[in-house]
Amino acid sequence: MARIRLAPLSTLTQTRYVIHLSNKKRLVLFRLPTIDPKPNPNPRSPSASTSASESACAPRNESNGWSYYAMEAECPHAGGPMQDSTIDIEDSAYIVSCPWHAYDFNVETGESSVGIQACTFPVDVRGVDGVVVLEYPSGDKVEVVRLEAVSEVMKLKKGAVGSAHGNGSGSGSRGEVEELRYLGDDATVCEWCAHILNTSNPEHKIELTAHLFKLFTEREGTESPMVIGSRTGVALPDLPPRDGVKDVNRTAVPKPGRGGTQKSRINMLHALANIEQWAIDLAVDICVRFATFQTNGADARGLPRAFFHDWLKVANDEAKHFSLLRTRLEELGSYFGALPVHHGLWDSATVTAHDLRARISIIALVHEARGLDVNPVTIDKFRKAGDQESVDTLEIIHNDEITHVTTGHRWLTWICGQEETDPVQVFRGNVQKYFRGPLRAPFNTEARLQAGLDQRYYENLSGYDVVQAA
Ligand code: FES
Repeated sequence: MARIRLAPLSTLTQTRYVIHLSNKKRLVLFRLPTIDPKPNPNPRSPSASTSASESACAPRNESNGWSYYAMEAECPHAGGPMQDSTIDIEDSAYIVSCPWHAYDFNVETGESSVGIQACTFPVDVRGVDGVVVLEYPSGDKVEVVRLEAVSEVMKLKKGAVGSAHGNGSGSGSRGEVEELRYLGDDATVCEWCAHILNTSNPEHKIELTAHLFKLFTEREGTESPMVIGSRTGVALPDLPPRDGVKDVNRTAVPKPGRGGTQKSRINMLHALANIEQWAIDLAVDICVRFATFQTNGADARGLPRAFFHDWLKVANDEAKHFSLLRTRLEELGSYFGALPVHHGLWDSATVTAHDLRARISIIALVHEARGLDVNPVTIDKFRKAGDQESVDTLEIIHNDEITHVTTGHRWLTWICGQEETDPVQVFRGNVQKYFRGPLRAPFNTEARLQAGLDQRYYENLSGYDVVQAA
């Protein structure tokens, strides 16, 4: 049995984490409020004692009101992502339900009401200097490569969720309210993605995006999975419309400042919320625009369904990020739409609209990877200003964005693997063709490496202006 140190208790603040182990296995660590034991019918019995000896007998997985559980990350039924499971309490035990077909598992024992069993692993949080330790059945040395926080809060406007079939209430924009429209049960993924791209109200866009991801994951592996469809017959906008914001040239957007004043921090949060809304569009656009993509070569292959799951997950994350930033702006007395914005990110989508390899290279591995470089600096500015609520929001976003770069890296590598090309060279060639100017240091080499990007990808690399000038 290997004892694997995961992290100090003090650094664990979220409900779930994906544990990436050096043997390539992935587990989920759940951090859940300790369930109160059932009331003791005999208050004079030892188990009702509140003496110091009680805490010494507390379960090993419990500390300070939180209990910790670890289970395999892939559902034993058909591989569903257990980190996205829903969590309920039944008979004083936590039950997690897989997002794909809703099989339920006791998070401590792994037992399921359908008769299959998930692997669970003992977690020890006592007597090791406040460090969470995982007991893992392996004779070989196994280490944690990465502990990835899974965020889960989507802050939708009150009244928007579930009420909205044909109901425009809940809009956060200051302009005309567009009707919120859901598509029918037989709508394809491509039809949904086009619908989201054409949705101009940001509150509706995030709600529809969350709905689509839920639909896709719930039906995946059932007898009626969502049909992917194609872009034939769906209308894609040249530039996705926007309600309630003034779209201006990049140079006319207010300078963010250094974060020392509230006005400066609002400028930064507003600019980030704008980027997140474009990121939703970019993630759904990649699904519909390249739905029928085929790899080159004699054994041409289309994209597996996991590709669509991954990018719809990215879209769902971006919708969540927008909701968090919009909420934070409102807590600071502002709102999304209070400042002008630009659509520079969409320009990169336009120039890469013909080639999936170029799209992934520029959007995921240049722009999103750049976010990994600058996020820690931005977070530090908010921390120095004492704005902990914004720090918490930005840290959720940063952790998610590492996984988005991972998604880009994974699918570029998959395509290159099929086509027997080198992903590093494909990436660098695309940057030289479709990105303007140099990739700017300093790079967050650690976060980039976590996402799969080693220095061969981005060192000494410049886009087309510089190449032409040389
Ligand atoms: S994959 Fe988890 S229930 Fe089917």
